[in-house]
This record gives sequence, structure tokens and C-alpha cells, in this order.
Amino acid sequence: MEYTKQLIKRFRNPKHVKKLKNPDGIGEVGNITCGDVMHLEIKVDKDKITDIGFQTFGCPAAVASLDVVCELAKGKTIKQAKKISKDNIIKTLKSMPPIKVHCSVLGIEALKRAISNYNQKNKKGGKNGK
Ligand code: FES
Repeated sequence: MEYTKQLIKRFRNPKHVKKLKNPDGIGEVGNITCGDVMHLEIKVDKDKITDIGFQTFGCPAAVASLDVVCELAKGKTIKQAKKISKDNIIKTLKSMPPIKVHCSVLGIEALKRAISNYNQKNKKGGKNGK
């Protein structure tokens, strides 16, 4: 199994490992195969993701993929962020060992859960309530 240079670089120096203050949405997802957990938080203002951070005990593929998901989602609208796909991640990292693709998909799942958590809070009369 070979990781790309891009993937290793991100794993060693991810830019979005952080906990946010009062996040607007939180998404957590576990990998059933390995038991690792990904935790992702978003700040949303006027329907835009203004800040985003993650924490995980996952493997290098999970760390690098979550970092890419955060980079791609930051500054995007909720609608645009929902369109981030596995292919976007793999393209940014140049390639992904097939056995690790399931780890990278979990980053997207964590983002989706954070968005639906945000939407749920919003329905109950959150600050951007519609
Ligand atoms: S092996 Fe656990 S997240 Fe990749």
C-alpha cells in the first residue's frame, strides 16, 4: 500500500485539527471496520461555513481526508459543501490506496452529519433560523 506525497504531507501537518468555540454543527462518525472515530465541527454564518475543524484517532488516510474535506468546505455555502465527494478528496490527494477509500469517505459523512446537526438546531429557532 502506497500513500502519495500529498497524503503524507497532510497527515504530518494537517491545518484543520482544532476544536471550535460554540460550534453551530457537530458531526461524529465511527469506522465500523477499525473502530476509529472522526469528529468534525462547523461554524456557519449566513448559510456559509466560516470555520471548520476536526479531531480523529484515525489512520493517515482518515487524517489527510478530513483535512481536505475541511479545506474544501471552508467558505462554501451549506449547499455547495454537501456536494463534496470522494472524488474531490482523491483528486486533491492525487490517489488513495483502494483499501483506504472507506476511511476517506468517513470524512464526508462527518461533514454531512455536522450539516444536518446544524440544520436541526436551525429549525428549532437557531440564530440563522428560517
Ligand atoms: S483504518 Fe481506521 S480510519 Fe482508517
